Order: sequence, then C-alpha cells, then structure tokens
Amino acid sequence: MTDSPKRGFARRASQLTPFKVVDFLDAAMARQAAGEDIIRMEVGEPIFSLPAPMAAAAHHAQSNTHQGYTSSLGMPALRQAIAHFYAQRYGIDLDPARVIVTTGSSAALGMVCDLLLNPGDSLLLTDPGYPCNANFVHRCDATPVRIPVVAENHYQPSPEDIQRHWRNDTAGLLVASPGNPTGDMLSRSALTALHGAVTQHGGTLIVDEIYHGLSYDEASEVSVLELTDDAFVINSFSKYFAMSGWRLGWLVAPEEALDPLRLMTQNFHISPPSLAQHVALAAFEPECIALFEARRAELRARRDFLVPALRELGLRISHPPPGAFYIYAGIETLADDCEAFCWDMLARAGVSITPGTDFGHFQAHNHVRFSYTAEPLPRLEQAVERLAKVLARREI
Ligand SMILES: Cc1ncc(COP(=O)(O)O)c(C=O)c1O
Repeated sequence: MTDSPKRGFARRASQLTPFKVVDFLDAAMARQAAGEDIIRMEVGEPIFSLPAPMAAAAHHAQSNTHQGYTSSLGMPALRQAIAHFYAQRYGIDLDPARVIVTTGSSAALGMVCDLLLNPGDSLLLTDPGYPCNANFVHRCDATPVRIPVVAENHYQPSPEDIQRHWRNDTAGLLVASPGNPTGDMLSRSALTALHGAVTQHGGTLIVDEIYHGLSYDEASEVSVLELTDDAFVINSFSKYFAMSGWRLGWLVAPEEALDPLRLMTQNFHISPPSLAQHVALAAFEPECIALFEARRAELRARRDFLVPALRELGLRISHPPPGAFYIYAGIETLADDCEAFCWDMLARAGVSITPGTDFGHFQAHNHVRFSYTAEPLPRLEQAVERLAKVLARREI
C-alpha cells in the first residue's frame, strides 16, 4: 500500500485562539488540589448554591419525568416564562415564539453567527471583548473586526466607530452590555445611536445581555428589545441565575429569523438539556428571584470594597464598573506584561486573575481582569492583603 499524503485539518481550526482564562483556571485548580490556598478571582461564573425550589424541581423532574429530548426550541413553558420575565423587568410584550432556548448562550452566539455570516463576511466586535466571539466568527470563515473601545466611552463603541470600521463585507455589530471584561454598559441613548448606525449600513445588531440582572448603582439595564424588534438578543441562565454548569441560555430573534434558527437548532443540538430546563423554570419563582437580588447586593458590596482597595495598590480603574462581576484594571505602574504578572501573582500571592490579553489586543498587555464572584468578601480582603505584600517587594 502506498502512503497517501496526510490530510490536514481545516484552516478554521488553526484560526482558533485560546481562552486563556482556562489556563489560569486549570493552574489555580491544580495548585488547590496540591493543597495550596488559592484565592480564585479568574473565574467568570457565580459560585452560589442552588436555591431550594430549583433543587426541588431537579429532584421532581428526575423522579417523575423521562429526561428525553424536548422541543428543539425549548419547553413551551420555559419560553413562556422567559417572555413573561421581559414583561416584568422591562415592560416588553414579547411573543414567546421569538424565544429560543439554547445550550448555553454559547450555542446562541454560534447560531446567530452561522445565520448572519457568509464566508468572507466580517463582524464588528469590541476590543476588549468576550474572547470566544472572534472564534464563532472564524467558524463561519468570516473575519472578526475589532473596534478598540476606551474607558472614556464606557468601553463601548460609538456611532463614529461604526462608521470608521464598517466595510463592504460587514454583516453587523456584536456588543455586550454589561460587557466582559469591563462590566460597562450602554445607556438607552447610546444603544439607540448604535442601532441607528448599524441599520443605516443595512447591518444587524446583536446584543449580548448575559450580564443583565447584575448591575449596580442607578445604572439601568436597557434591553435592546425595548427599542427594536430587529436585533438579536443573547442571554443565559449562567450568570444572574447562577446555572453555568447546567448549560442553558436563550436567544430572542426577529420573526423572519425563526425558521432558519429552528432548522439549525434541530440539526445541530436536537434540543437543549431537559433537566436544566425544568430547573430553569423554577428559577423564575419569587423566592429564587429574591435570592438572586440579595446576591446582587452582595456582589455590589464586593465591588465597592475592591475598587478603592485595588486603586490603593496602584491599579488603574477609571470608574467603578456598573455591572457584571469584573474589574478591568490597568497595571501600567506595576508591570509591562500582564501574562507574566498574572502567573507571578498566582505563584507568589496565591491570587488567580486573568490577563488582559485574553480579551483582545488593544492595550491588552497592560490590563488584567479581576472577577469577584467566586470568593466572599473576607477572602477578597485577604487577596488584597496578599497582593499588597507581594507588590511591595516586587521589582518591575
Ligand atoms: C459576554 C459573554 N457572553 C457569553 C458567554 C457564554 O456563556 P454561557 O455559554 O455559559 O451562557 C460568556 C461567558 O462567560 C460571556 O462572558
């Protein structure tokens, strides 16, 4: 038999970029497993126990129902509950038919990109932004075009940015509000202006609202659904509802997109996880919502402690982030390589944080992200003490 040349992998596989936080997460967990006391500030998921009504729903569903496939768009009762949630929170009359329950918002992001992007197209993203977005675009053989965003504009793009970065092949813009890694938000007027700028070019606006429910101060969360029916909305049970491991999210789509999305989800996922949907349904019970709101207050207290404490250590934080559970901080006066800085802090302070380079290129090397969702306030105080000690001894 003659050896035929080995076929390589598709080009898109080589375009994938790593999700660096996972390297830090793995390293932090390995140190913990080896008995080290690591303060976890790299993880982007809330670590809270399952509220009793949700645990009861899981138990009941497991004992009484067959955990088979559900409707590929999600259980009708859950789609109805999500639509009702929009009525309660935002006063929006949302047709449940426009709600598609997905396997985490990751599946929703993938499907929207699959729907909107032809090979050779481009999609505008923010820099910094959620690292996986660029890879969803690569998966379509399309190009992510990153718009550098600055603290002065709340780390969000402006209509002028859209004008400047729009190309003939641009299909639209994906923004997150509150965003990851900055926690910054789009006001109603900023969101309206962005929607106007995108539609003026004949493009599509996608808004990732996964951190809705987690905003502090007076900053009000505006859903793009309050402004228009022609945008795509990404959301999830992973953050406010603290169900990250259950892998459940949702997508609200314009009516004309429902048919192709139904075919995609049928073919690519068959259905979202059944047990998770029963649990998510219970998440809307008043007792659970009250608990999520108490957690929101707890997260605000953590943020309010950390912002001044980190500034005191020399980290640059332009303004307290209004939402999510992240602080995106400049380390210009402390180090010139964020990855080396994060590895150093993990090894010497036992504090695990994420390098800015996970979130893009623009000024990334002198930023780091602190997540304040995994550890209670006393542990965060301890983290600051440890960092202070190490930084006092450290030479750049
Ligand atoms: C902005 C943003 N969008 C989407 C996701 C994906 O989340 P999931 O698939 O758990 O819903 C994340 C996860 O951290 C995120 O930060």
